[in-house]
Amino acid sequence: MKQISSITQENFGHLPDGRGVSLYTLNNAQGMQIKISDFGGIITELYAPDREEQFADICLGFEHLAPYLDVSPYFGALIGPYGNRIAHGTFELDGQTYSLPQNNGAHHLHGGEPGFHRVLWGVEPFRNATACGLTLRYSRVHGAQGYPGNLEVKVTYELNDANELHVHYFATTDQATPVNLTQHTYFNLGGIHTTPDILGHQLMLNADRYTPVDVGLIPTGELAPVAGTPFDFRQTQSIGARIADHHQQLQFGQAYDHNYVLNKNEEQRLSLAARVNEPVSGRVLELWTEEPGLQLYSGNFLDGSLHGKGVTYQRRSGFCLEPQHFPDSPNQSHFPNVILRPGDEYHSHTMYRFLIQDAS
Ligand code: GLA
Repeated sequence: MKQISSITQENFGHLPDGRGVSLYTLNNAQGMQIKISDFGGIITELYAPDREEQFADICLGFEHLAPYLDVSPYFGALIGPYGNRIAHGTFELDGQTYSLPQNNGAHHLHGGEPGFHRVLWGVEPFRNATACGLTLRYSRVHGAQGYPGNLEVKVTYELNDANELHVHYFATTDQATPVNLTQHTYFNLGGIHTTPDILGHQLMLNADRYTPVDVGLIPTGELAPVAGTPFDFRQTQSIGARIADHHQQLQFGQAYDHNYVLNKNEEQRLSLAARVNEPVSGRVLELWTEEPGLQLYSGNFLDGSLHGKGVTYQRRSGFCLEPQHFPDSPNQSHFPNVILRPGDEYHSHTMYRFLIQDAS
C-alpha cells in the first residue's frame, strides 16, 4: 500500500516561563521522517534511507528539550537575525552605530543570546498532494539583541515525496536592519549511532573562492582562490583528507570553519552548492541554495561533553553546511548586501536533497 505523507504533534516539554513546547513529526511517502520543534525551529531527528533502504537518524541532537535551552551548540536550529559573526558586535548603518552583544570572544555570533535558535516560534502545519511541512513565524521586536527594526520572520520547512527538504526564509522590517537567516543542522550521513566521525565523508563544494579569516574568525575581506589549498573541494575529496595540513587558515578555524563564495551563473538562482557522499551507507546529501555563501564547519568544538539520543558527540562527529551571506557583511561593503529595508521582502530558498549512491 502506498504510504502518504503525514504530520503529528506531541509535547516536547516546557520553557522556564511555563510555555509549552511542541515537537512535530513530518513523514513523507518514501518513509523519510523529520522531527522539528517550535523551539528554535530545531530539527531534532532526521531519518534517511541508505542503499539497503535502511533508515537511520543522520542529524546530531537531543531527545529532550532541556539541553536545547542552554548547552546545545546550535544543533539543528534556525539561526538569525544574523547567521555567523559581526566583528566586535558593532556596525554602522545610515550614519548610526549599533552595538550587539559580544557572545563569541570579542565578536557577535549567530544573532546573540537568545538568537532565533532559542525562541519559541508560532507554527502552522500544512499538507498537499506531494509534501507536508510547517510554517514558522517569529516577530523580533525593535532593539532585541541590539538590532534595529521590528522584524517579521517566516520560515517554511517542506518535506516532499522526492526526499527533498525545502526551506524558505521570508522577512519584512519597519526599519533598515541586517538579516542573514540560516539553518544549523549537523549531519552525519553514516548515521549518528554507527559512524563516529565525518572524516570519511566525500565532499564537493561548488566554490572557486573562500573568505579567509583572522584569528577571531572574522573575514579579512579577501576573496581568496581555493586552488592549491586544503580548501579546494571542487573535485570531491574526503573531509578528513587535508584537515590536519599545516595551513594558517586551518589553525585559525581549528580545521574547517570557513565561508565559501559559491560559484553562481545567475545571481540568486537556486544552484548546487555542495554534494556529500558517505561511501559506506551510500547516503548522499545535495545542498542547493540561492545564498551567495556557504559555511563549512567540521564540528571542531564538539569535545565529547554533550550526549544525546544515546550518542556522545565527539570532535568531528558531525559537519554543518550553513547557506548564508558572508560573515561580517555589515562591516564589509564589498560583500553582497545584507541590509533589509522597509518595503522590501527578504526571501531565500535552500533545498536539501537526500539521495543514494550505489557502491562503485
Ligand atoms: C558556526 C561558527 C562556528 C561555531 C559553530 C557552532 O559554524 O562559525 O565557529 O560557532 O557555528 O559551534
